[in-house]
Amino acid sequence: MAQTDRTEATKPANRSAVKPKAAAKKKTAKKPMRKIIAMPQVQGCHIIAIVNQKGGVGKTTTAVNLACALGRLGQKVLLIDCDSQCNATSGAGFSHDSVKASIYDLMSGDVTFAEAVLNTRYDFDIIAGSRNMAGAEVELAKLPEENRFVLLRDSIEKAQEKYNFVLIDCPPSLGMVAVNALTAADGVLVPLQCEYYAVEGLSLLVRTINENVRKFLNPRIKVEGILLTMYDSRAKLTTDVAEGVRALYPDVVYDTVIPRSVRIAEAPSFGMPVLVHDPSNKGSEAYVLLAEEVINRGK
Ligand SMILES: Nc1ncnc2c1ncn2[C@@H]1O[C@H](COP(=O)(O)OP(=O)(O)OP(=O)(O)O)[C@@H](O)[C@H]1O
Ligand SMILES: [Mg+2]
Repeated sequence: MAQTDRTEATKPANRSAVKPKAAAKKKTAKKPMRKIIAMPQVQGCHIIAIVNQKGGVGKTTTAVNLACALGRLGQKVLLIDCDSQCNATSGAGFSHDSVKASIYDLMSGDVTFAEAVLNTRYDFDIIAGSRNMAGAEVELAKLPEENRFVLLRDSIEKAQEKYNFVLIDCPPSLGMVAVNALTAADGVLVPLQCEYYAVEGLSLLVRTINENVRKFLNPRIKVEGILLTMYDSRAKLTTDVAEGVRALYPDVVYDTVIPRSVRIAEAPSFGMPVLVHDPSNKGSEAYVLLAEEVINRGK
């Protein structure tokens, strides 16, 4: 595996040794961007659904930043925004009103796969979201049973030829759209905020994947990884929950945790991933480390 240069990130700050004037100057000087060294492209195409029925846990933030980090590491990446909130679309720099073709149009058969794909400025492509995806829950339920769960999988079949990773950002539910994503995917990445209720939701999600989706819809599906998000190492609840989740799912939880960071939260308001907004931020570095883990698990 290619090594990344962490010298800057790990250098201890010796503030007491710095004179006040120099210290003030140091504060405004930006840390250089963490050196990112491309990794060999993984074999085949790995489709990862980013799922958690709980809202606001960092699904979209992870989808956009992981897509960007994987792209920076030399992988060909497609992000699909399946949520009617269209946050991944705006986070990647597009207004959902201005896009000509969305995932809804693709699933409706109104545009081809090639027409639906947009190039972002951030080393990955995207199929934009649509407000109509809210109605898709009902529309999908009305389809004949043989099409109902596989429509997304069949609509994105062509992605296999072109991409190493396809990330699907899902809405906060285990409804028809999320089940379509689980049917299309090889693996599930579960972002988890370290709170008590999150653990209860996690067992329901893992049961749904193992007992329902794998049995009836998609035998190859597995939980690719659980990602601890908005991690605050000073909060006892965070570390207690993290310890509990690691004990319950020992080989599944990623080593990388995503720290709570204002820069991560503000990046979408500029329509860009945090890796572009503030490359030297600890959140940016965490998403690159996560991307390295995802690539290594995908080998
Ligand atoms: N590591 C982080 N540090 C600080 N804020 C974060 C972090 N990750 C996400 N956020 C913020 O938390 C909020 C929820 O994040 P996000 O939209 O990614 O969650 P989600 O699971 O996609 O939500 P939904 O279920 O509504 O789709 C957003 O305002 C986002 O900017
Ligand atoms: Mg979201």
